[in-house]
Amino acid sequence: MEIDAVDTAPGKVDADLLAFAVPDPVDLPPIAQEIDGLLEGELRHLIEDGELKGKLGKTTLAHTEGRLAAHRVAAAGVGSPGDLDADSLRTAAAAVAIRAGEVGGRSVAWILDGESSTLSAAEQARAIVDGTVLGPYDAGRWKTGENDRRHAIERLVFCGPGASALAEDAERANVVVSWTNRCRDFVNAPPNECTPARLAEWAEETAGRFDSLSFEALGPDEIRSAGMGALAAVSQGSDNPPRLIKLSYEPLGAKGDLVLGLVGKAITFDAGGLSLKPAERMEEMKSDMGGGAAVLAAVGAIAELGLPIRLLAVVPSCENMPGGHAYRPGDIITALNGKTIEVTNTDAEGRLILADALWHVRQSGATHIIDLATLTGAMVVAMGDYYAGLFGNDEDWLHTIREAAEASGDHAWIWPLHETYRRYIDSSFADMKNSSEYRQGSPILAARFLEEFVGEGPWAHMDIAGTAYLERGRGDYYDCGGATGYGVRLLSELARRLSAT
Ligand code: BES
Ligand code: MN
Ligand code: ZN
Repeated sequence: MEIDAVDTAPGKVDADLLAFAVPDPVDLPPIAQEIDGLLEGELRHLIEDGELKGKLGKTTLAHTEGRLAAHRVAAAGVGSPGDLDADSLRTAAAAVAIRAGEVGGRSVAWILDGESSTLSAAEQARAIVDGTVLGPYDAGRWKTGENDRRHAIERLVFCGPGASALAEDAERANVVVSWTNRCRDFVNAPPNECTPARLAEWAEETAGRFDSLSFEALGPDEIRSAGMGALAAVSQGSDNPPRLIKLSYEPLGAKGDLVLGLVGKAITFDAGGLSLKPAERMEEMKSDMGGGAAVLAAVGAIAELGLPIRLLAVVPSCENMPGGHAYRPGDIITALNGKTIEVTNTDAEGRLILADALWHVRQSGATHIIDLATLTGAMVVAMGDYYAGLFGNDEDWLHTIREAAEASGDHAWIWPLHETYRRYIDSSFADMKNSSEYRQGSPILAARFLEEFVGEGPWAHMDIAGTAYLERGRGDYYDCGGATGYGVRLLSELARRLSAT
């Protein structure tokens, strides 16, 4: 999407739709009153007739008939002023973008509400970019007909007094959400297309686009001979070979000694292995690579933005399948750090592949680690589709991440990780086991398991099982099911904050 930010008077801006926010109960902001003047009171009439409302996500269109340079105006409901936050604007912008597509429009201009809002103009602009790009995302790439396909907005303009100052923030958000949609493409892709080898290819293509990035991937023999016994064990049941995908980002002028380690779970299909999952909705387990895809896309976004921070990204990728070569409940495996693990459930595979990746990224020099993983079904039950669970060993690091998360629109909530949970994974035979027989605290014991492999230094784990992939739309700017690209905005914002200090 192309972005413009111009100080031009809204009446003079050429676009398919010229949008502005209206609150509920409906009340035209000063700029909309000016537009209403140009439209000879048409907006007032729509309000009197009860057609123009401020309900969140409702968009009302009026034709300008040449009285403005734009073809239509769009009154975008943002809901009650007391509830207004960046997500309200994302939702309103998404509704406008989808409506634009329905009337054949490809360009949208927005007038920002300078005075009456609790959000800064820059925050408003970023939220509108997010909603405009994420809202009309089309998950139906495999449909052969044109019916009910959605179309992306090709040009977004911010206009009105002072709008030109928003250009940089808006363009940065644009880069991040375009990578977010690329992430969604991979998570939505079927598991017969999106294999570990295909993910590695994508990482290699990304690295080829930026001099600051270098790519490396290990195949099955290298994984085993490197001592990554946990990743090797999970992989061995599948005919699609695993990859340990690595991207390193070394920008010119990187600040300080910080090396940000990014780790993402990329199980391209989780059948559960011999601890086979039930058939119902098993197809959704194509999304079990959501953490890995978010890491790869975030590295792309950060490289495109040229942020001055060092990154090491490690994405372990394989399938978790049953079969004659599959690993078994009862197997005892040795992870890269030498610790032994009794496998008590082959469906608790994410923590195994992450174990090797976490240790590897720390050994490779990461000072601060964050991992993203669709790790536990209990996280979906506990927090639903809006907040991811955040765990870690360092209060400062957790709060830094939590603040970046909230600012980015990828929401996160801090969970406890007390030492007493260690007993849940005590094994009679090995250093630990990978699951517990008790149905208690499953997201926490999974995080506690990972902690065994993070070495010295700050580490945080995000369980994104509920937020990475939606069973159904959320009724906001993610209004249809499928991948959200959770984590791309968060990691980009985290990198921006770390590189700015
Ligand atoms: N990938 C799943 C977790 C998951 C479930 C993500 C539903 C998204 C939606 C993970 O590998 C898994 O199977 N976890 C098990 C662990 C259990 C066997 C200890 C779970 O949470 O049920
Ligand atoms: Mn599983
Ligand atoms: Zn899984």
